[in-house]
Amino acid sequence: MPDRAHRYSASMIVIHWLTALLVLGGWFTAEGGGKVAENPPLLHVSLGLAVLVLVLPRLILRMAGGAPEADAQGWLTTAAKAGHVVLYLFLIALPITGWYTASRMGVSVSFFGLQLPALTEPVQGRPGLIGELHENGGTIILILSGLHALMAIWHQFILRDGTLRRMSLR
Ligand code: HEM
Ligand code: HEM
Repeated sequence: MPDRAHRYSASMIVIHWLTALLVLGGWFTAEGGGKVAENPPLLHVSLGLAVLVLVLPRLILRMAGGAPEADAQGWLTTAAKAGHVVLYLFLIALPITGWYTASRMGVSVSFFGLQLPALTEPVQGRPGLIGELHENGGTIILILSGLHALMAIWHQFILRDGTLRRMSLR
């Protein structure tokens, strides 16, 4: 059973689970197509931006020692680390592409009521490639985090190495 040294810090753990909920919420509140411009998905935008807001302190906490050393070495550990880097890249790229897409659609972007500037000029018609990257990226992160969750469950219940406890407060 991992002791404190083999766990993420409490703030890292809280941010991990909060981010998971926000990504799920962002996905369920996502809308596409023509009606988005007239009826902006306010909740989708706020939940998605909250993901971005949480990434920065998370990375700082991580650098300050909030993540434990890996319990094992080898290719599986390297693959897990690479997977985590990919997840972090999505957590940053998704909200920014969403913000850019909204700006191209002329949709005003606010974070729980706080008005934010547009990232680019609005265009006529569909937002183009950036919008497609955002929409597909939103689904890809859900699949990746599903695989990530399955790996964690496999570690916990098949390998029985206590991986889930590393991300649990108690
Ligand atoms: C949208 C959903 C999720 C995202 C974006 C996500 C993202 C991440 C990231 C980026 C890390 C690496 C943390 C770091 O080292 O700084 C991580 C670690 C971890 N996640 Fe998730 N996660 C999600 C959902 C889940 C779920 C549902 C589970 C469990 C069923 C889970 C279990 C874990 C565990 C156990 C670790 C620690 C792994 C280790 O000690 O190396 N995650 N997660
Ligand atoms: C965790 C973060 C996010 C996830 C998982 C996510 C996911 C998605 C998905 C899957 C779609 C496509 C919906 C469909 O076609 O039915 C979408 C659309 C959209 N998202 Fe996000 N999103 C996130 C963050 C954001 C943010 C932060 C913004 C704005 C600041 C945003 C703005 C938009 C807009 C404007 C659309 C409509 C695009 C269009 O109609 O072409 N999203 N999002």
